[in-house]
Amino acid sequence: MIPDHIIDEVRDRADIVEIIGEVVPLKKAGREFKANCPFHDEKTPSFYVVPHKRFYKCFGCGKAGSVFDFVMERQGMDFVEAVKYVAGRAGVEVEEVRGRKPEEDPNRPYYEITGFAQSWFREQLLDETVGREAREYLLARGIDADVAERFELGYAPDEWRAFRDAAVKHGFDEDLMLNLGLLKQSERSKEPYDGFRGRVMFPIKNVSGKVLAFGGRILETTSGDGPKYINSPESPIYEKGRNLYGLSRAKNPIRREGEALVVEGYMDAVSLAAAGFEHVVAPLGTALTPEQAQLLARYTDRAQLLYDSDTAGLKATFKNGDVLLEADIHPSVVTFPAGEDPDTYVRAHGADAMRALLKDSIDVMERKLQILEEKNYFSSIDRRRLAVDRLLPTLRAVRDQTLQDIYVGQVAAKTGVLPDTLRQDMKKAPRVRATSGGDRRAPALPPKPRSLRGGAERHLLKVMVRGVEWVERAAEVISAQDFDDPYHRAIFEALLADPETRTPPPSMDPVASQRFHEILVDPAELAHGTEIFSKAVTRIRVAALHRRAQDLQARIEGSRSEEEKLELVAQKSRLAAEIRELDENYWVSATRRRPIERNPNETTR
Ligand code: UTP
Ligand code: MN
Repeated sequence: MIPDHIIDEVRDRADIVEIIGEVVPLKKAGREFKANCPFHDEKTPSFYVVPHKRFYKCFGCGKAGSVFDFVMERQGMDFVEAVKYVAGRAGVEVEEVRGRKPEEDPNRPYYEITGFAQSWFREQLLDETVGREAREYLLARGIDADVAERFELGYAPDEWRAFRDAAVKHGFDEDLMLNLGLLKQSERSKEPYDGFRGRVMFPIKNVSGKVLAFGGRILETTSGDGPKYINSPESPIYEKGRNLYGLSRAKNPIRREGEALVVEGYMDAVSLAAAGFEHVVAPLGTALTPEQAQLLARYTDRAQLLYDSDTAGLKATFKNGDVLLEADIHPSVVTFPAGEDPDTYVRAHGADAMRALLKDSIDVMERKLQILEEKNYFSSIDRRRLAVDRLLPTLRAVRDQTLQDIYVGQVAAKTGVLPDTLRQDMKKAPRVRATSGGDRRAPALPPKPRSLRGGAERHLLKVMVRGVEWVERAAEVISAQDFDDPYHRAIFEALLADPETRTPPPSMDPVASQRFHEILVDPAELAHGTEIFSKAVTRIRVAALHRRAQDLQARIEGSRSEEEKLELVAQKSRLAAEIRELDENYWVSATRRRPIERNPNETTR
């Protein structure tokens, strides 16, 4: 038995045109390929291969199917043999799992819910009355019914329990829906309510098209406020750092174009794709993760970064540029006029102007040098030293040897530092890389944060009460489940529900109310908001991941099945890598370093 997700992956990665093309002389016809049908006699071609849909079909004899069907039919293999054969061609490793039926996928109930939710949200958008306001909002943003349908957008009505009632009627489990963030529950009111209300819904899918999560954008007209976007929390089926918005539909266009466009937001991705730039993806959250870059690297080795041109946008551009270089993707930077993002730009100026902008994109290193030049970094010796320091991470990130040579040459020319000296600097303090998940043994976890934990939660809340923008930022990077302390969690939720609230809501637990009150009146000003914010977020997330790792460890120890154990160990090793990645960022910014010690609770198998 081969697990479903492996079969999906093999199908996704196989080049159906190449495999069929080996035995049938295919001719390109638009987006398809055609030939005389190999399964029946004919003089004019009616056999089509449709690469973007990954199937073939003969309009003469009716034979049709996937790349696997073709191989089975032509070479007389059974299904498992066909998958293995195609996998060999696609470079995917296939491991058979004994005696496990595909219907035992433990996450299946979750996918059933997300699938239902997607179609329910879609129906609400299409509903004459319920969806009117959302349709008008989308139209005003240049998204007509056709585009909305193509991108499978939906609408979550501005009601407390509309989704819940529909889902419960269909027999879906409330606990699972709570895990998915489709329902929420407050400390006091026992009855779960809809997690997304009054929002346009963007389904987030994995590479093979299963719905994992949602992003929801508030309508400007929705009563009450709340963050502009709400995203599903991480769940058993959704790890946001491992998925890219839009990839399931963009992957073939990306292959075709030989590059990917990387944008910041849902709307940017939809607008660009609607304007004909279909090879577009967006990371889900703030910065691109190494896993996301590796995922993209399966499809292309080039990317264009399309971010706002403000300081924050540039920072994101360069950070993501380094992450892409590390995944052996060569990034270039597209520069927008001030105040525009890809969505506003393409709508205001049209596809041709967009194409011109893409053509003018600049290699990421060149763009860095340009900016340092503009800021006079090459004018004095001291500043040159600083410039070199700022360029080293990029030099270190490059995987491709030729590109590295070029970059070293460029930096040497600009700064006057000899290439050999640069190369020595590059070797110093090499980045500590997170271990990749290939190893079967559970790796030791980095040390568990101790004292700061409760403090970090409190610090974050203290920053959040400074203003709505902090609440919004927090909502992007952290979810209520990440909080360990239930009272802090309740306060966090209250702030998300009403970012401007400055009194504990009446329904709040008395202990939580008291804490909230203390936080609100605490006279100690936190001076460096940004720094405290990002440190606190990192600490909280690391602590949350540690808790998850502990749960996993307990399950590993309690597990009787070897197979399940392996899966759990793999999950845990992904967690460990994530913790390291986060920890690393923390340690880099922390002033005091503690030696990395082994966690004594850790067993390696
Ligand atoms: P932006 O604030 O730049 O919004 O956030 P946008 O994409 O231009 O959205 P529109 O055009 O106003 O609709 C960029 C991305 O950051 C995330 C979303 O993924 C968003 O697309 N984000 C932003 C959130 O997750 N939550 C927020 O509250 C805001
Ligand atoms: Mn926008």
